[in-house]
Formats: sequence, structure tokens, C-alpha cells
Amino acid sequence: MKTNDGRLIVIGGASRSGKTAYVKKQVNIIRRICAWDPEAQWCELRGWRKITRRSELLAAMQTPGHVKLAYVAGGDLKAEFDFWAACVMHAGRYIAPITCIAEELADVTTPSKAPGNWGILLRRGLKRGITIYAISQRWSEADKTAVGNASEFVLFRQSSADDVAYMSRKTRVPADMLEGLETLQFVRFNADTREIEQSKLRF
Ligand SMILES: Nc1ncnc2c1ncn2[C@@H]1O[C@H](COP(=O)(O)OP(=O)(O)OP(=O)(O)O)[C@@H](O)[C@H]1O
Ligand SMILES: [Mg+2]
Repeated sequence: MKTNDGRLIVIGGASRSGKTAYVKKQVNIIRRICAWDPEAQWCELRGWRKITRRSELLAAMQTPGHVKLAYVAGGDLKAEFDFWAACVMHAGRYIAPITCIAEELADVTTPSKAPGNWGILLRRGLKRGITIYAISQRWSEADKTAVGNASEFVLFRQSSADDVAYMSRKTRVPADMLEGLETLQFVRFNADTREIEQSKLRF
């Protein structure tokens, strides 16, 4: 049976370990995409449009065409993130399939169940054909809903022993495999097939 299921890819690793670079490569050919971009990185890429206001984000999401949007919000980041997640859910569900990227989730979520519209996006977005790249330096401090629903984990060098232990427990990727990673090296774990592979980013 053919389905239009999206995928949830959880990406973890210390600062400068390779997370953003990995996702950039993965989404290079994607034509309809929206990023939560607190560090204003995605908005600088060629072909991307920087969005700073809610009304602009909402309007840009109303058309089914090709679009690369980076939401660089100010003010209350948790509230803005919630609004961003609602927009992505709406765009994917009612307008056309979409891919989204959420950068540094430990800043806008906590280790408990994912909050509000982000929780809805994680729990219901995949079967609406929404693909989600969820990024954090420290998953032990970010929401457990993303980790629990992941289709795939991409794990770079971890920031702490806590994170090694946490990711290893959640995925059964051996802790010593994560301990041994150097910058740009990663372990990819497919949660459906339970396949583990190790590789390295090249530019
Ligand atoms: N196109 C490129 N060519 C060469 N090196 C690159 C390129 N893009 C990124 N890098 C290097 O790869 C490393 C990882 O960068 P990246 O931005 O992916 O880190 P990150 O894990 O997202 O970190 P943070 O959590 O701080 O956002 C950095 O040392 C960066 O300089
Ligand atoms: Mg990054």
C-alpha cells in the first residue's frame, strides 16, 4: 500500500558537531520547507526567505507552491515556536505536503511531553505527510515526544555523558559507539528496521 507518511528525524550532538550541516545536505533538493531558525542561519542560504512576523509567516504558508521559509522570531521564543508549529501543521495538512526543520529544541521545549502545537505536529503531522527534522544539542533536556516518535536518529558527538547515556538508552545504539565519535562523524539509527550505520559528513 502506498502511503504519504512523513518521517521524523531526530538529530543530536554537541555544538559544532555537524547537525545543521547534515540537515542542509539532506534537504538540499526539497522545494517546500519551513525552518524554525532562532540563530538566523537558514535565512542566509540561497533561495531561502527570512520571515520575522507572524502575519508574514501565515500568509507565506497559504500557497501550495515551492517555498523555503526561515522564521526568525523575536520576543517570547516559546510562544513563537508554538505559533510556528501550528503554521507548519496547517500548511502540511490543508495546503500541500511540507518538510520542516526545528533548530535547538532544548531552548523551547522541556524533557516532559512536547508542548501545545509542537506536540500536535509530532503526533499527527507524520500521517499528514509532514517530514520533520528535529535538532538539539541536548536531547536529555528536550521533549521526549520527539524522541519517542522518531523514525530515525542521527547522532553526532554528544555534549555530555548524560546525553550519551540518554541516546543510547533510547535507541540501543551502544554507548561506546557514541563516545568514540569525532566532529562530523555520526551514527544513524533507523527505528523501524533497527539498522545502525556509521558515517562521516563530507563537503
Ligand atoms: N560547507 C561546509 N564546508 C566545510 N565545513 C563546514 C561546512 N558547513 C559546516 N562546516 C563545519 O562543520 C562543523 C559543524 O557545523 P554545524 O553548523 O553543522 O554544527 P552544529 O552541530 O549544527 O552546531 P550548533 O549546535 O552549534 O548549531 C563546523 O566546524 C563547521 O565549520
Ligand atoms: Mg546548528
